[in-house]
Amino acid sequence: MLLAIESSCDETAASVCDLQGKILSNVLRTQAIHAQYGGVIPELASRAHQQTIITVVKHALQVAQISKNDVQAIAVTQGPGLIGALLVGVHFAKGFALAKNIPLIGVNHIEAHVLAHLIDNPDIEFPFLCLLVSGGHTQIMYVKNPLEMEIIGRTLDDAAGEAFDKGAKMLGFSYPGGHIIDKYAQNGNPDFYNFPISDVPYFNYSFSGLKTALLYYLQKQKPEFIQHNLENICASYQHAISKALLDKFTQAIKKYKPKAIALAGGVAANSYIRTKFMELGKTFNLEVYIPKFEYCTDNAAMIAIAGLHLWKAGKISGLDMTPFTMYT
Ligand code: KG4
Ligand code: ZN
Repeated sequence: MLLAIESSCDETAASVCDLQGKILSNVLRTQAIHAQYGGVIPELASRAHQQTIITVVKHALQVAQISKNDVQAIAVTQGPGLIGALLVGVHFAKGFALAKNIPLIGVNHIEAHVLAHLIDNPDIEFPFLCLLVSGGHTQIMYVKNPLEMEIIGRTLDDAAGEAFDKGAKMLGFSYPGGHIIDKYAQNGNPDFYNFPISDVPYFNYSFSGLKTALLYYLQKQKPEFIQHNLENICASYQHAISKALLDKFTQAIKKYKPKAIALAGGVAANSYIRTKFMELGKTFNLEVYIPKFEYCTDNAAMIAIAGLHLWKAGKISGLDMTPFTMYT
């Protein structure tokens, strides 16, 4: 039995998996406190992790129907993420490993998002290309095997989810507003307005110009016009984000010739992006993988599956392991 902890941002999560990679529990507590600020406040996140981590772990053990004495290894998100938030999970895991005299495994959060595909698809074909899109990340990963992957493209400024959330805020929606744009866009015309897409080198992304374009566009319109065309504006803005994501991803497919393509992260819930991604798979005749929503957003099951692969490969961390904030 392996216990995994995730505390890199605003979700306190714990999961238990067995040695075959079967997820026995996947418990998550989202911190509600940040909604009133329209974004995650790091210090509040750290404190909330401290208050809930023990309850969340106890719950994960209970759902898996095991006791803490059955845990044979503990995996924890080492980074990237908010330093104070990571410290809570890492120190909890170190204490647990020390007390029980079991291996401690530091897991890379980004790589874990990618490995989440293995939970329900252990036979996924390698190499595959994964588009990871969430509130904190926008990356294209080239995955050679569970232990070897590289970032071939990334955002130079905002993440795709941030572009959704900041756009949603400008349109008067609550935080996080990505799913609200998705909902309004379903009845709108994606070609209503042509929002510009920044062209940056290689397989990288930039969303800050798009966000500013929406701001200037809204400033120029009368409130009645915006209200009347809310669905069309949402559809056009969403189309621009989707096109930016998929144009670069298409170029990456052509260059890297993967055996399959995969979508991950909270933005993978977007109905328009999902549809376009499936179409891309059909165009290139490639298998498409999109994990269950609970494995797309931040969760500890993905830390468990990644930790299990590292453990089996003998990649154990020492008790002197420290968290890191950036992926290098
Ligand atoms: O992976 P995730 O839960 O955590 C972070 O990395 O923060 O992703 C959350 C992001 C938010 O930006 C949220 O607005 C976005 O995913 N999101 C969506 C949709 N559902 C969640 N964006 C667009 N359309 C959706 N349906
Ligand atoms: Zn994440």
